[in-house]
Amino acid sequence: MNRLGGKTALITGAARGIGAAFAEAYVREGASVAIGDIDIARARETAERIGDAAFAVEMDVTRQDSIDAAVAAVIARTGALDILINNAALFTAAPIVEIAREDYERVFNINVAGTLFTMQAAAKQMIAQGKGGKIINMASQAGRRGEPLVAVYCATKAAVISLTQSAGLNLIPHGINVNAISPGVVDGEHWDGVDAFFAKYEGKAPGQKKKEVGESVPYGRMGTAEDLTGMAVFLASAEADYIVAQTYNVDGGQWMS
Ligand SMILES: NC(=O)c1ccc[n+]([C@@H]2O[C@H](COP(=O)([O-])OP(=O)(O)OC[C@H]3O[C@@H](n4cnc5c(N)ncnc54)[C@H](O)[C@@H]3O)[C@@H](O)[C@H]2O)c1
Repeated sequence: MNRLGGKTALITGAARGIGAAFAEAYVREGASVAIGDIDIARARETAERIGDAAFAVEMDVTRQDSIDAAVAAVIARTGALDILINNAALFTAAPIVEIAREDYERVFNINVAGTLFTMQAAAKQMIAQGKGGKIINMASQAGRRGEPLVAVYCATKAAVISLTQSAGLNLIPHGINVNAISPGVVDGEHWDGVDAFFAKYEGKAPGQKKKEVGESVPYGRMGTAEDLTGMAVFLASAEADYIVAQTYNVDGGQWMS
């Protein structure tokens, strides 16, 4: 299929994990894809693995100069920015009484400010181009409800859902669709880190939490990055033109609203 032929996408945090799978899927659908990541060495490796239609762009979503430079690099390379996926994020966990202000600020800065100001930079470019665009934000089931040890990360993902709603309403007059994907539990390096937090705070053996969450998913297993690519391609395609400000659960049945 060629549902994204002629389009250019910027995917933040795409050096590995879900973002890398999105980049591969977008290239399969005919897009040129900028792999934006703070880990430029890994972004380059990923771009090389995917092929000529992918290219690495060094990007720290917590810094405005870096966001602006990344958008400029995309324009210099392909002449346009049609699709943005705000995918870069960090996980953190701690009981309420142990949350450190520095950790709160670090995670909000990436997950919330990074999403908002990258979305802003992309929207300015898309408005200037005058052909609309698609913005997809990565939320999480963590944004649908709190969790006892995950207050900060859950709050950042609730904020992403809210930003998606406001930006979706504000930008649709420009033909820019803003929507979000809410995964459940997706196996990969991110979840290795999550598992380590639960090993620490719940006294579990390494790998035990991962096994438990996988078994509790109605579908019967954790998700894979590839489980999410269908929704990511659809939301970036013309088929999704009438979809505005929504957050879609792609989580094997974990959440139902
Ligand atoms: N894995 C899951 O179970 C899961 C579940 C729900 C939602 N999500 C969300 O999906 C998205 C992707 O998750 P993943 O599992 O692939 O994560 P990951 O940790 O594997 O990848 C995150 C990427 O972001 C990059 N990054 C970190 N800080 C950055 C910064 N300041 N600027 C630019 N890039 C930066 C990292 O280098 C890394 O390549 C995230 O938004 C995450 O919150 C993941």
